[in-house]
Amino acid sequence: MSLTGKVALVTGASRGIGRAVALKLAAEGAALVVTATSLERAQKTADEITVIGGRALAVKVNVAIIAEVEALFSKVVETFGRLDILVNNAGITRDGLLMRMKEADWNEVIDVNLTGTFTCTREAVKLMVKSKGGRIVNISSVVGEMGNAGQANYCASKAGVIGFSKAVAREYAKRNITVNAITPGFIETDMTGVLSDSVKEELLKQIPAGRFGKPDDIANAVYFLVSEMGSYITGHVLAINGGMHM
Ligand code: NAI
Repeated sequence: MSLTGKVALVTGASRGIGRAVALKLAAEGAALVVTATSLERAQKTADEITVIGGRALAVKVNVAIIAEVEALFSKVVETFGRLDILVNNAGITRDGLLMRMKEADWNEVIDVNLTGTFTCTREAVKLMVKSKGGRIVNISSVVGEMGNAGQANYCASKAGVIGFSKAVAREYAKRNITVNAITPGFIETDMTGVLSDSVKEELLKQIPAGRFGKPDDIANAVYFLVSEMGSYITGHVLAINGGMHM
């Protein structure tokens, strides 16, 4: 298995894309740090990894709280002594039209999606510089590239993740750390499950592939980027959207 001996941390890995990524990296041999906002739910994914013969540590973390992120990385060092792969996946939406958007909804989305990515990356890079290499994948969104009415906060956070990824990629390329962003289109998870059938029908019309994506479509791409195959790819934004945006 190509990731044997590597340690990977996936934020927001209790369900959806994060869970699929954690399971894929574990199946390829990595030891996993599985985080979610509930320990019980993080533990569920960790247990699934144990069942397939992997090693996993479950940690409860709100990535918007810097002290919790710092405590998470202390636990990573205590348990594994190193970190090779970070996947910043935790994300939320608080949709609403701009004129009615509450400051709290703006701040919460920026704090989790963008600031959470910043703090986790900052802590991870400290460890990766020490071990002379690493891989970081940030989960952005197609709407960070094309915009979406009713999601000014979310689009701003996800566009921010793209700029952030490119800056950090430039800063750490010489340190053998790659940093890439993935921009998923419409992926079937709890986040999109709340949309009405009519909205889903309209969305489907905009997808040339004629289907929504699956969490595994993203997990496979993350694996490619963090494996040896992705060693010369950095600062890239990988669209996985069935042709929805080109
Ligand atoms: P989801 O809602 O199914 O899962 C989100 C995960 O993030 C959960 O594990 C949750 O516990 C965790 N989380 C939420 N707030 C957190 C916080 N403050 N601290 C730590 N963890 C937190 O979402 P889904 O669909 O799996 O999305 C994963 C990522 O992919 C998100 O960043 C999302 O914005 C992005 N994305 C999803 C798309 C989709 O169509 N589902 C499309 C484009 C991007």
